[in-house]
Amino acid sequence: MTTSSLRNSALLFAFYALPFSLLLSVTARPATFLQDFKVFYADYHVKQAEGGRAIQLVLDQSSGSGFGSRYKYLNGQFSMKIKLVPGDSAGTVTAFYLNSDTGNVRDELDFEFLGNRSGQPYTVQTNVYVHGKGDREERINLWFDPSLDYHTYKVLWNHHHCVFYVDEIPIRVFKNNEAKGLPYLKYQPMVIYSTLWEADDWATRGGLEKIDWSKAPFNAYYKDFDIEGCPVPGPKECSSNPRNWWEGAAYQQLSADEARRYRWVRMNHMVYDYCTDKARYPVPPPECRDGI
Ligand SMILES: *[C@@H]1O[C@H](CO)[C@@H](O)[C@H](O)[C@H]1NC(C)=O
Repeated sequence: MTTSSLRNSALLFAFYALPFSLLLSVTARPATFLQDFKVFYADYHVKQAEGGRAIQLVLDQSSGSGFGSRYKYLNGQFSMKIKLVPGDSAGTVTAFYLNSDTGNVRDELDFEFLGNRSGQPYTVQTNVYVHGKGDREERINLWFDPSLDYHTYKVLWNHHHCVFYVDEIPIRVFKNNEAKGLPYLKYQPMVIYSTLWEADDWATRGGLEKIDWSKAPFNAYYKDFDIEGCPVPGPKECSSNPRNWWEGAAYQQLSADEARRYRWVRMNHMVYDYCTDKARYPVPPPECRDGI
């Protein structure tokens, strides 16, 4: 038996034989990077630190780099702390995203951190793909310098909505509107990825600002990886279990406090919203319409 099928049988046993509270401790949060992630892009540019608890990604003219979770997950909450490329990061993109890896029918939830010239604000772009259809970009400028310290970036994905958080502040909500006939991310488990790469054809001021390679290598840092969700392969009924904590009442909609912070971000820090881009969408996409 391979380690992973052993782990799966253990999970199956846990699922059928133990109360759900114990099951949750079986799918518990990770301790080290290598337990839950692997490098998938440019091994020589991914460095471990703090005994495997922290990771450094490197971008230079030879290559970017990236890592992804060993398992796919169907629903849950996924977070990590990231310290972004400092100084002149124009033309670099650091991404933290979930992707089902299913080509033209993929589901995807993206955070993309668009670098900038020194002293200019980092922009966070988010996007949502449902069954291969994306083009739902939103952008906010961060209210702090994300390269000075670690900050927490998190995605909550349950049967009610997907919420993107920056330091516990919701910056984006994508609701499940299946009842109104709109598609939702439901059946496809996703890998959790992070990458650091060059995108100076579009990232900074629409591609006007190019990477200054004399500032390379560019480094981004990661720690406190936290995956809590239903692993796939894993217990088949896991994601439909209403007792998963991320499906609980407190996670089905924003709390009053979260809703207040969400409005604050959108009023003060939002710089682009596809829903209000009339040149691109003379008729707003259905999920943008009132009452949805
Ligand atoms: C970079 O800085 C410029 C100037 O402040 C700003 O207009 C832009 O939104 C910033 N972000 C990106 C990704 O271009």
